[in-house]
Amino acid sequence: MSAPKKLFIKTYGCQMNVYDSERMAEALGGEGYVETKSPDDADMILLNTCHIREKAAEKVYSELGRFKGLKAEKPDLKIGVAGCVAQAEGEEIMRRQPLVDLVVGPQSYHRLPEMEAKAREGEKVLDTDFPEEDKFEKLKNRPKAKRGPTAFLTVQEGCDKFCAFCVVPYTRGAEVSRPAGRILREAQELVERGVREITLLGQNVNAYHGAGPNGDLTLAQLIWELDKIDGLARIRFTTSHPNDMQDDLIEAHGTCAKLMPYLHLPVQAGSDKILKRMNRSHTAESYLRLIERIRAARPDILISGDFIVGFPEETEEDFQATMDLVEEVKYGTAYSFKYSTRPGTPAAERPQVDPAAADDRLQRLQALLTRQQREVQDSMVGREVGVLFEKTGRLPGQMVGKSDYLHAVHVADCNRQAGDLARVRIVSSGANSLAGELIA
Ligand code: 5AD
Ligand code: SF4
Repeated sequence: MSAPKKLFIKTYGCQMNVYDSERMAEALGGEGYVETKSPDDADMILLNTCHIREKAAEKVYSELGRFKGLKAEKPDLKIGVAGCVAQAEGEEIMRRQPLVDLVVGPQSYHRLPEMEAKAREGEKVLDTDFPEEDKFEKLKNRPKAKRGPTAFLTVQEGCDKFCAFCVVPYTRGAEVSRPAGRILREAQELVERGVREITLLGQNVNAYHGAGPNGDLTLAQLIWELDKIDGLARIRFTTSHPNDMQDDLIEAHGTCAKLMPYLHLPVQAGSDKILKRMNRSHTAESYLRLIERIRAARPDILISGDFIVGFPEETEEDFQATMDLVEEVKYGTAYSFKYSTRPGTPAAERPQVDPAAADDRLQRLQALLTRQQREVQDSMVGREVGVLFEKTGRLPGQMVGKSDYLHAVHVADCNRQAGDLARVRIVSSGANSLAGELIA
C-alpha cells in the first residue's frame, strides 16, 4: 500500500467554516488523505476562507504568496481555495494567483474528491455552483473515530435578510434548512463518538424550519428532539437574528435543561436611523423588549452581540445610541467591528464615515464592552456552575472546561477527565478565565 497523502487545511472566519473544514477532511479521507499540522509536508493545501470583512479576504492572497517556495520545491503539491472568498472571487483568485489548482465554493464540497482527481491530472478546477442536492448527505462517509466532547453541527445555511453591509446572502446563498431526521442522526452519531455538547450552526439559525415527519420543525422543536438523545448533555446554537426569535425558542430557554443559558443575538447598532439603513428590520426598542422577554424566561442568560461602527452616514449621535443600548443590555461577550466596504453590497455605494472617527468610536465601544464582559465574568465568583471539561491545563492535575455560560474555567487538583461534567464553585476571575473548585 502506498503511503497516505497528506492534507493541510487552514480555516479562517466563523464556526461554520470550522465545521466545513472537518467535512472536507473527511471527504478527502475517503481518497486516502490524512491531515497534517504543517503545510511543509502536505500533498494538498486547502485554505478555507472568509469574506466577511476586507481584511479577512486579503489574508488569503498573502497566505497563498507564502506557498510559492513550497510549490517550486514540490511540483506535485496541489493548492485549493475553499469558503466564501472562493465563492465571491473564484475566477479572480485563479487569475491573481497562478499556483492555485482548485477553487471550491461552500455549496460544492461534496464534489471535492472528483475535483482533487482532476487537479492531480494537471487540470485547473473551479466549482462555485449552488447545486440542489444536500452536500452534507453526500459527505456522509465519516470515519467513526472517537472525538472531543464538543462539536458543531450545521442545521441551516445561507441568509435571506440582506443586511446592507453583508456578503453572506451572496456567498452562502439563500436560506436552506436541513431536514430534521438527518440532523438527529448526525447528532446521535456524534454522541456515540464521545460528544457531550453540540452547537447548532446557521447564519440565521433561529430561522430554522427543516422538514420533520409531520411538517416543518422550528429550531425549538428541533432542540426538544435533540434533548431526547441520551448522553447529549448540552445544546447551544448560533447565530440568531432578533426578528426570528420565536416564542417557543424563548420558552425553551426557560424549560429545556440541556439548552445552555447563552444567546448570541447581534443588534449591530443602536440608532434606528442606522438600523433602517442597514435593512435590519428591527428597532433598538424592539430589540430591548426582546431581551427583556428572554431574560424573563431565563434570568441568568448571558447575552452576546455583534456591533458595527462607522456604517455609512453614522453620526456621533447615532454612535451614542449604540453606546446607550449597550449600557442597557449589559453584554457578557461581544464582537465589534469597524464597517468594511464589501463590493456588491448596497452600503458600499454610500457616503463613507471618516476612518479616524470610526477608529475612535470602535475604541470607545470596545472599552465599554470589555468592561461589561469583565463585570459579568467577575459576577460569577461565588456561584455554582456546570463545567464540561475539555482538556488538561498547563499545571499538573489541572483541568480546563467551559461553564454553562461559555466562560473558560480552570480547576486545580481535578480528578476528572475530558468529557466529564461537574458542578464547580467559582473562586476567582482572571484576565480571560475563571478558576473554580469541584463541589464534592
Ligand atoms: N463590515 C464590518 N463588519 C461586518 N459584519 C458583517 N459584515 C460586515 C462588514 N461589511 C459583522 C457583523 C456580523 C458579523 C459576523 O460580522 O457584525 O454580525
Ligand atoms: Fe449577514 Fe446576518 Fe444580516 Fe444575514 S442576518 S445579511 S448573515 S448580518
